Amino acid sequence: MDQIRVHDKIFVPFIAADQIKRRVEELAQQISADYKDKRPLLLAVLNGSFMFAADLFRSLTIDAEISFIKIASYQGMRSSGKVVTAIGMEQDLGGRDIILVEDIVDTGKTLHHFIPTLQQQHPASIAVATFLHKPDATIFPLTLTYVGFSIPNRFVVGYGLDYDGLGRNHYQVYQLAEETTKES
Ligand code: IMP
Repeated sequence: MDQIRVHDKIFVPFIAADQIKRRVEELAQQISADYKDKRPLLLAVLNGSFMFAADLFRSLTIDAEISFIKIASYQGMRSSGKVVTAIGMEQDLGGRDIILVEDIVDTGKTLHHFIPTLQQQHPASIAVATFLHKPDATIFPLTLTYVGFSIPNRFVVGYGLDYDGLGRNHYQVYQLAEETTKES
C-alpha cells in the first residue's frame, strides 16, 4: 500500500487494517472475560480514540456502557501544578468499573494526571485500554492493562490518530517516514 502525505510530512504504512481488526477483537475478548457480570463503563478519551472505542465496544460480548470524554488541562490559579478535568463526565462513577479508552499512550502525562481526578469519584476499579503504546517515550508511571500494539517512538497517524487535525480517516496506521538526509 502506498505512502500518504499529511500536511508537510510523508507517512508510510505501518499497521494493516486486518491486523488492527484482529487485535481489537482479541482485546474485546479479553475484556469480555475479565468483566463478565460487571457491566463496565468505557470512558473513551476524545478525539483520537473514537475509532478504537467504537470497534472495541461493538466487539464486546458482555453488557457494557460507553461514554465519551474530553480531557482538558489548564494551569491552576494558585497552584503551580496542572489541573486536569474532563468534559462530558456527567455520570456518577461511584462503584463503577471504569475502562479508560485511549488512542495512544506516549509520555503517559495525560492519563497520569487524569486518573487521580477519576479516583475522587470512588469507582470500584480503573483500568486503561490503549490502542497504541510507545514504551520508550513513557516517563509517567501508569498501569496499562490492555494494549493493542507497543510501537517504537515514532509519530503515527490513522485509525483516529491525527497530525495537526488530519490523517484520522484511515483504516490502517501510518508511521512517519524516515527523514532522508541529503549528502552535502
Ligand atoms: P501523552 O500524554 O504524552 O501520553 O500523550 C497522549 C496524547 O498525545 C495522545 O492522546 C495523542 O493525542 C497524542 N499523541 C502522542 N503520540 C502521538 C502520535 O504518534 N500520533 C498522534 N498523536 C499522538
